Amino acid sequence: MASNSKTFSFDEVAKHNNKKDCWIIVNGKVYDVTPFLDDHPGGDEALLSATEKDATIDFEDVGHSDSAIEEMQKYYVGDIDTNTLPAAKVDNIPPPRQAVASSSSNESSGFVLKFLQYVLPLLILGFAYALQYYGKSSKPSEPSES
Ligand code: HEM
Repeated sequence: MASNSKTFSFDEVAKHNNKKDCWIIVNGKVYDVTPFLDDHPGGDEALLSATEKDATIDFEDVGHSDSAIEEMQKYYVGDIDTNTLPAAKVDNIPPPRQAVASSSSNESSGFVLKFLQYVLPLLILGFAYALQYYGKSSKPSEPSES
């Protein structure tokens, strides 16, 4: 059963996505869990929802016991050709894209913030000093003249 390591493409494995024929991919290995669907403590729906994708994260998120990991070896049918997997990993790309998009807008908003934080207070201070200077220089001259 588990003696030969056959390599499957993602599309090939993804076809096995129903109660009568259910294959999952975990840690680069392919498991035919069809006979286990009714016995899975997490329910058959959990296994069915783990088809058509790399279920490694789903499997690990549950925190399966060592005995569960031992048990899954019974259902091992081969390895996945990892070059055919990127479809599942594409989902992870949007966050960096958003980060890039937001970082470019952050650059301009960062400049505005710096301007408001440092330059604007200095301008206000300068303006205040200027007002004080001109105010003092004009006031003493008035009473001395009158
Ligand atoms: C051949 C693959 C698998 C085997 C042999 C297996 C086996 C088991 C076993 C023995 C348990 C009982 C708890 C434990 O001992 O850890 C369990 C629970 C569970 N499994 Fe799996 N599992 C497999 C794949 C998956 C996958 C792909 C998912 C997808 C999310 C999943 C979801 C769950 C859930 C939700 C529970 C219930 C956890 C709880 O209620 O505490 N399992 N599984």
